[in-house]
Amino acid sequence: VARHGRRKPLLGFTAVPVGADDDVHVPEGYVADVIIPWGTPLFSDGPAWKKNASDSSLEQAMQVGYNHDGQHFFPFDTRGRRKSRGGRHDDNDAGLLVLNNEYTDPALLTTDGLDTVTPEKVRKHQHAVGVTVIAIEQERGGRWTHTDSPFNRRVHANTPVVFSGPAAKDPRLQAKTPARGTMANCSMGNTPWGTYVTCEENWADYFGSADKNHKVTDEEKRYGIEPGQTHYKWEEADDRFDTDKDPNEQYRWGWCVEIDPFDPDHTPVKRTALGRVKHENCHFATSRGRVVAYTGDDQSGEYIYKFVSKRPWRAARAMGRSPLDEGILYVAKFHEDGTGTWLPLVFGQGPLTKKNGWKDQADVLVRTRRAADAVGATPMDRPEWIKENPLTGQLFVTLTNGTAGPNPANPRKKNVYGHILRWTERHGDKTGTEFDWDIFVLAGDPTKDPQVDINGDAFGSPDGLYFDTDGRMWIATDVSNSKQLLKEYENLGNNQMLCADPRTREIRRFLTGPKGAEITGIMGTPDRRTLFVNIQHPGEETKAIGAPTPANPQAVSSWPDHDPAGRPRPATVVIRRKDGGIIGS
Ligand code: FEO
Ligand code: CA
Ligand code: CA
Ligand code: CA
Repeated sequence: VARHGRRKPLLGFTAVPVGADDDVHVPEGYVADVIIPWGTPLFSDGPAWKKNASDSSLEQAMQVGYNHDGQHFFPFDTRGRRKSRGGRHDDNDAGLLVLNNEYTDPALLTTDGLDTVTPEKVRKHQHAVGVTVIAIEQERGGRWTHTDSPFNRRVHANTPVVFSGPAAKDPRLQAKTPARGTMANCSMGNTPWGTYVTCEENWADYFGSADKNHKVTDEEKRYGIEPGQTHYKWEEADDRFDTDKDPNEQYRWGWCVEIDPFDPDHTPVKRTALGRVKHENCHFATSRGRVVAYTGDDQSGEYIYKFVSKRPWRAARAMGRSPLDEGILYVAKFHEDGTGTWLPLVFGQGPLTKKNGWKDQADVLVRTRRAADAVGATPMDRPEWIKENPLTGQLFVTLTNGTAGPNPANPRKKNVYGHILRWTERHGDKTGTEFDWDIFVLAGDPTKDPQVDINGDAFGSPDGLYFDTDGRMWIATDVSNSKQLLKEYENLGNNQMLCADPRTREIRRFLTGPKGAEITGIMGTPDRRTLFVNIQHPGEETKAIGAPTPANPQAVSSWPDHDPAGRPRPATVVIRRKDGGIIGS
C-alpha cells in the first residue's frame, strides 16, 4: 500500500488471450509448474501412481486425492512450528498445502470405469475424495516440490469424524454406523487459530436408493436427494448412501468440518453451529474479538449465511471451548435500496417457534434451508466463494450463474454469466446485523449482452476468489460443461483466472486452463511471490468434445503429462515470476 501520493497501479502484467488448447497459459515473464497431481504418493516410499489407474483403494488412501479444489498454505512457522532444513526456509517457501479433493470421475478413476460396481471400486472413489495434507517447499532455483513430513495425511469419505455444537446430539444424526467421512469438499476456510475448515457442498448427489420408487421425504426434496441410482453409485456398495437402508446418514453431511493440519491424528470435527446446507466455502474474519464465518449455499435460489461466535474467540479457546460451537447463525436479506439485513436463525425467534413446528436449535441447524426460507432470506444466483479485501474489510461473493432473479441482488432473469456482489458491514462491525451492498461486476461477453459491465477482459461463471495482501482480487471461473455449448459462451474459451483491481474495477486475464478443467483454489504465499492454483477435472466430459471413456481416457484432455499411455490428472499449478517479483504487479 502506498502511503502518500498516487498509488502504483495494482495490475502490471500483459493479459493472456482466451484459451482453447490443452495447456495452462500465464503471462510473459511468468512460469507455471505442475506439482502433486492426483495419485502422487504422500511419502517417498509410498505406492507410485499407475498410469492405467489400477491403483487399489488402499493405495489411493496413501496418495494425493482427485479433483483438487479449495486450498490453504500453512507456512511451517504459522504456529511456532519448526522450520524445515535448519532455517533455510521461511514462511514463504515451506509449509503444508492443505487441499480439498471434491469429487471423482467414474470414467477416469479406475481402469475399467464404473459400469460394473464393486465394493473395492467404490472404496477407491471414497478414498480419492476429502482432503489432502502435504508438505511442500521451494528448492534452490525456484521450483516447488512435495516433501515427506509427519503431517502428510489423507482425510477421506471413510475417516472417522465427530460432531460438535448444538445439533451434535440430534436424533437424526444417530445413524446405523459410526460417523465416518467427509466428501463433496468444494472450498474451505482457515481459522484465526490455524486450523483448516473444509466445506461439504454437493453431498446430496451421493444419496440414492436401490428402490427407484423410494418415496422422497420433504427434507430429501429440499436438499435435492433423488431416488434410484446415483452418478457415483456408492449406494450400490455402501448401505450408508442408500436412503432406504439408512434414512439418517444423510443428516451427517452438508456441514463445515474442522481439521487441525498440524496434528496428523486429529479427528475431523463437523461444526453444526454453522448450519447444514451445500457449503461452498467458509471465510473467517474477526470483529470485536469474535470470529465471524461467512458461507454461501451453492445452488440456484439458495442463500448467504454468516456465523458470529458468542464469545471472543481467544476467550472461548482459553475456556477449552471451540469458538465455532456457540454463536448465532444469520442469513442475508438484500433490500432494494442497497442496504441489507442479517436475519438470525434462532429457535424461538421470529417464525422459528414450537407453534410453527420447530423443535429446538438443533432442528433449526439440521433444517437450515427451511429455517432460512421461513425468515425470508434473499434467494441468490448460486453463491460460491466469499472473500474479504484485507485493505478495506469489504466482502465479495461470486454468484456464478442461476435463475433466482430478478431480485435486487440478482438483477438478471436468467443469469447465464454470473456476477460479483460486494458488501460492507455497517460501522465496520462484522458481528452486526446491517450492511450496505452493491454489484461489483455483471460478468459475461459484452458482444452478446449489453448489460455486461466489465472494465477489461470478458469472463463468465466466476467461482474461486482470492485477495492478496496488496488488495488484488483474483477470480477463477467454472463454466460448467453444460454451458460451454451455449452461444453466450462461444467467445470465452477454456476456464480462466483473472486479476481485478477493486478500486478501478479493472479486470485482466492472467491464466487459461486445459480442456474440460475449471480453475480454482487460488492461494498465495505471504510474500505474494508464489501463487498456487488448482486445475480441477481436466478431461471431464464436454458437450463440444464428448466424454472420456475407460478405453479412451484422453478423449478430452491429456493434461498435464501429455503421455499417450496416460490419462488426465487434476493437479496444483505453482506460478512464479521469472524475476522473482510480486505476482500480478
Ligand atoms: Fe463445488 Fe460450487 O463449486
Ligand atoms: Ca468444482
Ligand atoms: Ca466452486
Ligand atoms: Ca462452480
